[in-house]
Amino acid sequence: MAVAVYPGSFDPATYGHLDVIARAGNLFDEVIVGVLNNSAKSPLFSVEERVNILNRLTLEIPNVKIKAFSGLAVDFARECGAQVIVRGLRAITDFEYELQMAQTNRVLAPDVDTMFLTTSLEYAYLSSTIVKEVNAFNGEISKFVPPIVAEALQEKYMSRKNNK
Ligand code: PNS
Repeated sequence: MAVAVYPGSFDPATYGHLDVIARAGNLFDEVIVGVLNNSAKSPLFSVEERVNILNRLTLEIPNVKIKAFSGLAVDFARECGAQVIVRGLRAITDFEYELQMAQTNRVLAPDVDTMFLTTSLEYAYLSSTIVKEVNAFNGEISKFVPPIVAEALQEKYMSRKNNK
């Protein structure tokens, strides 16, 4: 069985992430989306919230599972019995970091390969960081994220505004 993991922060998931998840789902028997639980970063959404959002967004893709992970992506891949780590590549600016990460992972775990899926053109400019910035200024985000994520972002916006 061909199993892949797709690790990331997903803070929050965008249409670009969903595109990669769906396409990886067509290529592998099983895709496990790994949501990084990293206490060093301070994400907008908790790991539970990010897992919950992704679970709701992928309900209709039967061979996709969502799991939180901490530690190394290669260890997560091995725990999941995955042979492949999938990553999305948007632009040349992503490439240097992604190549470095893939090569490091290959040294750490020669049995786990990295596969890059180039982001579909309509999502090539998208990033979670930009979406959060637009949302922080109450901008329109419906073209960037599915309604479930837009609602969750709106709730964060309101609660931050009310706590000021
Ligand atoms: O969505 P992101 O933030 O670009 O995802 C980055 C992620 C989670 C894939 C990367 O930071 C990661 O794999 N972190 C876990 C620790 C690790 O394995 N680092 C790679 C060794 S270079």
